[in-house]
Amino acid sequence: MDAGDHTAREYFHHSSAKRVNTDLVLLEALRTQYPHLDVIVAPLARCNLLMYAAAGFATAEPIEASHGHHAYDPPVKWVAYVPPQRRLDSQPGAFSERVLFGKYMYKWKDVEFLMYFVNGRDGTAAYPDVTQHYILTTEPQKAYQLIKEASLWTEELHDEVWVFDGGFWDKSRELYESVQKSHWSNVILDEDMKKALIADVEYFFDSRDTYTDLKVPWKRGIIYYGPPGNGKTISIKAMMNMLYKRGKEDNKQSVPTLYVRSLSSWGGPERALSDIFKKARAEAPCYLVFEDLDSIVNDNVRSYFLNEVDGLRANDGILMVGSTNHLDRLDPGIAKRPSRFDRKYYFPDPDWEQRRQYAVFWQGKLKGNKAIEFPDELCPKIANRTDGFSFAYMQEAFVAALLVIAGRRNDGDGEGGDKAQMEDGGDDDLEKLVLWRELKKQIDLLREELGKRRSNDGNIIGFNL
Ligand SMILES: Nc1ncnc2c1ncn2[C@@H]1O[C@H](COP(=O)(O)OP(=O)(O)OP(=O)(O)O)[C@@H](O)[C@H]1O
Ligand SMILES: [Mg+2]
Repeated sequence: MDAGDHTAREYFHHSSAKRVNTDLVLLEALRTQYPHLDVIVAPLARCNLLMYAAAGFATAEPIEASHGHHAYDPPVKWVAYVPPQRRLDSQPGAFSERVLFGKYMYKWKDVEFLMYFVNGRDGTAAYPDVTQHYILTTEPQKAYQLIKEASLWTEELHDEVWVFDGGFWDKSRELYESVQKSHWSNVILDEDMKKALIADVEYFFDSRDTYTDLKVPWKRGIIYYGPPGNGKTISIKAMMNMLYKRGKEDNKQSVPTLYVRSLSSWGGPERALSDIFKKARAEAPCYLVFEDLDSIVNDNVRSYFLNEVDGLRANDGILMVGSTNHLDRLDPGIAKRPSRFDRKYYFPDPDWEQRRQYAVFWQGKLKGNKAIEFPDELCPKIANRTDGFSFAYMQEAFVAALLVIAGRRNDGDGEGGDKAQMEDGGDDDLEKLVLWRELKKQIDLLREELGKRRSNDGNIIGFNL
């Protein structure tokens, strides 16, 4: 008789066990071990009770020793050493523990629960990873309350911003931290335009009742457009910061930002847009940011976008802001029709006075630097010479000049500092300043690059030195 391949048979035999469901095994064991307690099972995906405790809302004391066989004492855990996230931070790494089976005395408010925390992955697949809390108590209603509060906390942001990228909403601490450093005082714009930008957004979030009284939907769309490097992104970040702070300082409601980086998604752009707007409706009132709108809303996604923006579902409380370099490349259905994007703000290259202010901004930044002389007279000189530059080009000129100076100082050729070289007054004296000499070189180099770039774009270049 042919018995088939022995090894294949063994493999099949081994792999076709009875159906397993670790959750049921645990329930049965817990009910047997604690017949007088209720068992409430709460999956980790919705609330993380250990993190909730670590954040200071409860305590979770591990119970490690039992009176029985040591081999079966909790916990079961994995230990990993995680090296520093970024080499640049020069922070030490840290040990990370992942509990697979743990037993805790969990104290929350005035209640104590016995809690098992168990990874009950069944079968061979890594996904889904089913980890549950098993809460044992005589007061199940209190356990329900705990689950509710911990779930709300888990869903909230904690010094993070929601960012949509790669098809998911994810929390970003990095963006939050960079937003914390963004202030309107560092954004140089025409004063009236700056006031209008801010008032537009503040008025929107303050005026729910007005919109309701007028029976118009409480939603708004704003576009920031203009050549690269003139403050669209830093204005969005300063606005984000202001909207978060509102809650703390002005006794108003803090407004969260939802930040969309791209629509690329495993589910295609239609799915991405539906997820984006679903979240925005849930979080409203909120500030919904689409950076580089023209690359996000191309021909393929136009109809899905419009469907979400003026479809059947209400978008109350959503203020959309999109930034773009190319208003002309945006679909007219998006750019030209109010009610989708109602207002457009142009961010031009800075004029003379703004370039002077930007030089003053750098003067302030360099105040503490003993080696660099930066007298007031230099600011208008810099403004004269940078006609046609964006702020980003001006920034590049400063950074490049300072790097050259610092490099020279490190080489010790004596050209690095210029405190001793300043004499009194006059243009000739400015020529002696190492910062001014380097800035001029860098500005001229950048101007060449700018000339090439603009002639490629088909624009006329105006030199006005
Ligand atoms: N109006 C401004 N005031 C002060 N600094 C500015 C201003 N605009 C730009 N800068 C400087 O230039 C850098 C780039 O600016 P930003 O990222 O805001 O440009 P952008 O308009 O968003 O450009 P892009 O269209 O390429 O995205 C900023 O980090 C800042 O240092
Ligand atoms: Mg930008």
